[in-house]
Amino acid sequence: MSGLFITGTDTGMGKTVVAVALANALRAEGLRVACMKPVASGSRTTPRGLRNDDALALMAAANVAATYEEVNPYCFQPAIAPHLAARDAAVPIDVDRLVNCYRLLAGRADHVLVEGAGGWRLPLHPPPDS
Ligand SMILES: Nc1ncnc2c1ncn2[C@@H]1O[C@H](COP(=O)(O)OP(=O)(O)OP(=O)(O)O)[C@@H](O)[C@H]1O
Ligand SMILES: [Mg+2]
Repeated sequence: MSGLFITGTDTGMGKTVVAVALANALRAEGLRVACMKPVASGSRTTPRGLRNDDALALMAAANVAATYEEVNPYCFQPAIAPHLAARDAAVPIDVDRLVNCYRLLAGRADHVLVEGAGGWRLPLHPPPDS
């Protein structure tokens, strides 16, 4: 199993802590580890663009080269549910783009750890009538 999806219901329940711990353990085994936070909300503006702390923590725990945009293709500033942030920013989340980033990382790593946003059933797209 080369891909691991780390999720759980609610914010602050330990997804990032667990993902970083898994990355540390896999690195200690001599394995190549990539991490992803495909969709993040709650981000800050930096000279290099929006940055999310989870994505930065995951990048720091990885040991294969990756750009920020590969690790976190969709980064929204407000700390609200990502599908609502995407709607407000008029930036639809393209699942193919997420899959492409995953495949790029998977080609460089033995394992890719992917941290979800919110909980199990958080949608990526707003309802059609919103
Ligand atoms: N070693 C530790 N022991 C106990 N609690 C810890 C430890 N390290 C971190 N925590 C706490 O555990 C919680 C887990 O936070 P974490 O950021 O991993 O959650 P998350 O599920 O990734 O949240 P988000 O939805 O924002 O991504 C935080 O409140 C953090 O302060
Ligand atoms: Mg997190």
